[in-house]
Amino acid sequence: MPVTCIASAKSCGVTTAALALTLASARPSLLAECDPAGGTIRAGLLTGQVSAGYGLYHLAAAERVGHAELANAFASHLWPLDGQTGHRKVLPGLTDPAQAAALSRTWPALSDVLHVMAESAGHDVFIDAGRLALEAGHLHPTLTPAPLLHKADVVLIAVRGTEQSLTLARHLIRPLRTELDEHGTGADALGLLLIEDGPFRSHQVAEALQAPVLAALPWDLDTATYLTTGGKPPRGFARSPLLRYARTATEEFGAIAARRKVRQQPHPAPPSHPQLSGILDRLANRGGARG
Ligand SMILES: Nc1ncnc2c1ncn2[C@@H]1O[C@H](COP(=O)(O)OP(=O)(O)O)[C@@H](O)[C@H]1O
Ligand SMILES: [Mg+2]
Repeated sequence: MPVTCIASAKSCGVTTAALALTLASARPSLLAECDPAGGTIRAGLLTGQVSAGYGLYHLAAAERVGHAELANAFASHLWPLDGQTGHRKVLPGLTDPAQAAALSRTWPALSDVLHVMAESAGHDVFIDAGRLALEAGHLHPTLTPAPLLHKADVVLIAVRGTEQSLTLARHLIRPLRTELDEHGTGADALGLLLIEDGPFRSHQVAEALQAPVLAALPWDLDTATYLTTGGKPPRGFARSPLLRYARTATEEFGAIAARRKVRQQPHPAPPSHPQLSGILDRLANRGGARG
């Protein structure tokens, strides 16, 4: 299964899209909320459920001890998104942007853990990377989780179909392509996720930004408001336009990632991660923090 990283030039629906994709996937799924500016799911969809004792921040200390400790901490800081079944999980994000600096050396090892979850444990993995900041044409080392973007199978820039959104995203595309070529798995990982708000259609967005639109999600106020603020799900939530399109999008990302892997075959396979296998056992036995 792929690791799909979603980011934006300016707040436009990254977290909502990441949640919709995680909840809609046909496979077991996992969302890592890695926005260095702070997570919003804890005080949003999961309002009142998750204490500050859970989440991404706690992985920084574990990583300093070792890979196995990080893997164990990761497994115990996941929170179920689907009651007790444990097929959909979230790693809640930072409670304070000041915590982001502590994470900068954690990202590469966390990326390994997420890839093990995708490749060995069969999860559809989504990363909310938040709003991207550039410094001298490169991803900012502390204001972005750059290593997560470098290693993702699919990197999505979320945009709305508005002039403002396209204008801001335009500046990201070229540096990001170069960055993925130089430090990542290649510029062909990059694509757009259109949030259908505004007058511009897919082909216009693709042309304006010179990048393919890999999926589009409809404007769906009821569903998005629930995913943003929590409370009681709206009637017909699972069949809502946002969730239905999100499910189709997850299939598309899976197919894109599979095609990329075939093209990359001549290169040596990535190292296996025997030291991380402990997380697989833990996850098989419990559905996350409450499991
Ligand atoms: N597909 C959508 N339809 C309707 N509203 C949306 C949609 N996606 C996002 N929104 C709304 O836009 C606002 C910002 O969304 P959010 O996901 O928090 O953005 P980001 O993570 O990029 O900052 C929220 O109020 C959310 O409910
Ligand atoms: Mg967000």
